[in-house]
Amino acid sequence: MNEHMKLPFGDFQRNGPWPGHLLTAFLLCFQLQLTPAELTITPIPSRPVEGENITLFVQGFIGEDLMSFNWFRGSTTDLAQQILTFVSMSGTQSMGKAYTGRERAEADGSLHISSSHLNDSGIYTIRQIFFPTDSGSNMVSTNVYLPVYDGPDPPVLRPEGSDFVVGSNLTLSCFASSNPAAHYIWWVNGTAGPSGQQLFIPNISGGKSEVYACHATNPDSGLHSTAEIAVSISETLTQPGVLVNNSGPVENKDSVNLTCVPPKSLVAIVWFNDGEILLSGRQGLGLSPDNRILTLEVVTRNDSDLYQCEARNPDVASTRAPITLKVIYGPDIPIVTPPNSTFVEGYALTISCFSDSNPAAQYTWEIDGTPEPSTQHLSIPDVSLDNSGVYTCEASHIITHQRSTAQARIQVSEREWPPLPCDCHSWVAGHCPLSEAREEPSPWIQEAENGWVQFF
Ligand SMILES: *[C@@H]1O[C@H](CO)[C@@H](O)[C@H](O)[C@H]1NC(C)=O
Ligand SMILES: *[C@@H]1O[C@H](CO)[C@@H](O)[C@H](O)[C@H]1NC(C)=O
Ligand SMILES: *[C@@H]1O[C@H](CO)[C@@H](O)[C@H](O)[C@H]1NC(C)=O
Ligand SMILES: *[C@@H]1O[C@H](CO)[C@@H](O)[C@H](O)[C@H]1NC(C)=O
Ligand SMILES: *[C@@H]1O[C@H](CO)[C@@H](O)[C@H](O)[C@H]1NC(C)=O
Ligand SMILES: *[C@@H]1O[C@H](CO)[C@@H](O)[C@H](O)[C@H]1NC(C)=O
Ligand SMILES: *[C@@H]1O[C@H](CO)[C@@H](O)[C@H](O)[C@H]1NC(C)=O
Ligand SMILES: *[C@@H]1O[C@H](CO)[C@@H](O)[C@H](O)[C@H]1NC(C)=O
Ligand SMILES: *[C@@H]1O[C@H](CO)[C@@H](O)[C@H](O)[C@H]1NC(C)=O
Repeated sequence: MNEHMKLPFGDFQRNGPWPGHLLTAFLLCFQLQLTPAELTITPIPSRPVEGENITLFVQGFIGEDLMSFNWFRGSTTDLAQQILTFVSMSGTQSMGKAYTGRERAEADGSLHISSSHLNDSGIYTIRQIFFPTDSGSNMVSTNVYLPVYDGPDPPVLRPEGSDFVVGSNLTLSCFASSNPAAHYIWWVNGTAGPSGQQLFIPNISGGKSEVYACHATNPDSGLHSTAEIAVSISETLTQPGVLVNNSGPVENKDSVNLTCVPPKSLVAIVWFNDGEILLSGRQGLGLSPDNRILTLEVVTRNDSDLYQCEARNPDVASTRAPITLKVIYGPDIPIVTPPNSTFVEGYALTISCFSDSNPAAQYTWEIDGTPEPSTQHLSIPDVSLDNSGVYTCEASHIITHQRSTAQARIQVSEREWPPLPCDCHSWVAGHCPLSEAREEPSPWIQEAENGWVQFF
């Protein structure tokens, strides 16, 4: 008999019911009423759904000699998991560490949980504490598993878009929030199909429009929910998009990522440069494993070009999406024309500067350090001796503000006259003193104002 009194938590006497006279004797001897075999917890409702109020009803609850009782989350009487303590004498409850504000006990031992959450699912333990006696334990506990069911919520089907193309694999997935996890069955055009969360149909053929429905069932609550999607299968792949992360990369400085944003049901991506397929392995060029990102490492002006991205599957290719990359470079060392040279006074001089640059360079001139108008072509219609000098052209870049210069030495010399008589043929055009001109007037000679003749 004594053995039955030493009840560790959760160890229940399972030999009952005891013969009436023995039980009476027992009660008289020890004034302790423990009939743990009859202490059971029943959740009401028995299959609670999230949001419902739940009562854990205790049967076989012993009210006499009861000091207090506690409720715990989990199967142990761990203080950290204690929800509340109910003191029988005063009828008051005090909260424990696992109290969430939604629990309330009653004098009959039952626990009310209002607005249940899914995470209220789990084991609940009640422990009764009796007034101390001379021998044995004065505590008894038991527990129950409380499931809180949820859903299924309306299923979510992915992908949402119905951009499927002939020759692609059609993969649809369905998810419905549910506790426990939902079971899924697919219906294709009104006919029950495969089960499972994913539907996979390889190599879809064209010209079809089909309705796929996903039917989710909560295996415990028996509740269900359905969602459907109409899928049309196109004969063409829509054009991908191309994104560039730097539209003005600077030569020898920047790297560029070109990203192909393909249609959803693609199989492969192919990049073209100037009409040629780009393959990974080319120097200065990187392709991500899925070919989506083309990286041009440290661009040069030679990378300026038309790039195109195309999506393909075994049956269909998209139209190519083009993007033109314009690398910013320069200004290169200018070329000055004419270079060092000598002019005869009176001639027209036009000196030009050109520097390769993108965008086009801006030019300024200096003659022996004196600034001239900012122009690419410097014109002097009638050079004189004091136009001699060092002509310096400076090309500057409007974006990078880089500069580069080049020079030409221009020498202006005095006129020298040919021996008499003036020979028209040695003159392309020019002047000759009238006194030195040929006697016979020629149709190409015309008298000028100040005693000079002009040849044509
Ligand atoms: C659930 O319990 C709360 C608090 O105990 C109460 O206010 C509410 O009316 C109850 N809801 C239902 C549906 O019984
Ligand atoms: C249970 O879930 C509710 C709502 O999602 C949350 O507020 C609460 O903190 C959770 N409780 C525990 C013990 O995780
Ligand atoms: C896909 O199906 C088409 C007919 O619909 C067939 O011609 C083709 O060979 C199939 N491709 C593969 C990879 O199975
Ligand atoms: C599915 O149903 C649609 C509309 O009723 C029909 O156009 C289509 O041909 C059907 N597809 C198949 C594979 O039966
Ligand atoms: C563009 O991508 C390249 C390569 O990853 C990177 O080095 C560069 O910093 C990026 N540029 C910008 C503006 O994000
Ligand atoms: C499509 O499915 C077949 C197997 O049925 C597989 O071999 C092929 O790689 C899949 N294609 C893609 C693009 O996933
Ligand atoms: C550029 O693309 C590569 C993959 O090719 C990636 O690792 C990197 O993060 C990308 N850089 C930027 C700036 O997006
Ligand atoms: C660009 O290409 C040309 C011709 O192939 C080559 O001569 C030149 O060095 C290249 N320039 C750069 C900056 O790589
Ligand atoms: C032009 O003349 C300058 C000064 O006389 C000289 O230093 C330079 O080398 C010459 N340039 C050329 C291309 O001859």
